[in-house]
Amino acid sequence: MKLHMRNLTKAYHAHPVLNVKEASLGTHGVEGLIGPNGAGKSTLMGLLTRRIKPSTGTIKLEDGDVTHRLNLIRSHQVANLGLVKTNQRIQGFSSLTIRDNLRLAATSTIDETYRGVLDDDQVDEAIEAEIDRYLSQFSFADPDGFAKSGGEKKLLDILRCLILKPRMLLMDEPTAGLPDDITKEVMDLVGAKVEAGDMTVVIVEHDLDLIWKYCSYVHFLSEGEILFHGTPDDVKNNRVVAEKYMGV
Ligand SMILES: Nc1ncnc2c1ncn2[C@@H]1O[C@H](COP(=O)(O)OP(=O)(O)OP(=O)(O)O)[C@@H](O)[C@H]1O
Ligand SMILES: [Mg+2]
Repeated sequence: MKLHMRNLTKAYHAHPVLNVKEASLGTHGVEGLIGPNGAGKSTLMGLLTRRIKPSTGTIKLEDGDVTHRLNLIRSHQVANLGLVKTNQRIQGFSSLTIRDNLRLAATSTIDETYRGVLDDDQVDEAIEAEIDRYLSQFSFADPDGFAKSGGEKKLLDILRCLILKPRMLLMDEPTAGLPDDITKEVMDLVGAKVEAGDMTVVIVEHDLDLIWKYCSYVHFLSEGEILFHGTPDDVKNNRVVAEKYMGV
């Protein structure tokens, strides 16, 4: 699944924070979106998932032969089209157990992912089996209790997104606060899903080693504009990226 945007801008109180003339995301499997603090990375992801209203511009979501104009779609419907975002700052989750958070996420897209092929009992079994798989792969201190640490909340947010079976996953600083071994497990799992053709991924990260390791294409955003995009090697060697971000 791919996203195409044109003349996409966002201003707060007449102060411009984003201005993307033309860009496509999702054409290279796992892509990175990097740039300095305040560059507009989270704003762009919020615009793409319709959580933030653009000042101007169009966004198209292309899924095989079908193209959706996201300008006509509300934020709660975006996930049903297969476009899902993880959160840079984690909130919520605290009133439900880890397992119930995953159940709630799974049932919210049941129409798209499960129904039509399965009856109600089978739906429940399929969801429970999938939740069990995730909970046995990633060891939470108490899966039937609440997510306690920041790391557990971050991981739960990612699993909550994966259980929606996205066709395109936007990850906003997914690994900040996660231990290195869990980061690797998450990225390997995401990479395997991309490899299998299940989804495309865009990762926003300040951890550039992670970007170079997992992304086959990288977009560089600075002061609201995409100034450069290319392979990790292209981006590493780009003078503008070096000057504005790498502090060289
Ligand atoms: N609701 C808002 N009202 C006013 N300004 C905002 C709002 N949200 C974001 N901004 C401003 O928009 C700019 C881009 O912010 P954004 O959070 O998108 O940056 P970012 O690239 O995600 O940064 P970071 O790497 O620190 O997460 C910043 O100058 C920020 O202060
Ligand atoms: Mg951000």
